[in-house]
Amino acid sequence: MTATKEWTKIMKKSELPQQIGKEVHIKGKSIALFHLSNGEVRAIENRSPHRNGPLAEGIVSGEYVFCPLYDWKISLVTGLVQKPDNGCVEVYEIEVKDDDIYVMV
Ligand code: FES
Repeated sequence: MTATKEWTKIMKKSELPQQIGKEVHIKGKSIALFHLSNGEVRAIENRSPHRNGPLAEGIVSGEYVFCPLYDWKISLVTGLVQKPDNGCVEVYEIEVKDDDIYVMV
């Protein structure tokens, strides 16, 4: 059986502070949600590919988050770990409608 993806309403964008990650759980997955300084909302897997660092607790800078454990820099747009480190995290599609944030999981 393959799990089908669907939009899940998470929270209001106006209640998500900018530049501070928030952990949400959907379908058993831990997802790190971010409201960027440019107004965009991004969602990635809440786990660094290195040693499972909780990315929702990382420092946000522009479109990147720095893992709170070992400081790997990870793109919130592509999920790619930036050089000199390697790896990637899953990126989840986001839609914002009337202040409600939906994530595709
Ligand atoms: S756990 Fe290693 S960079 Fe986050």
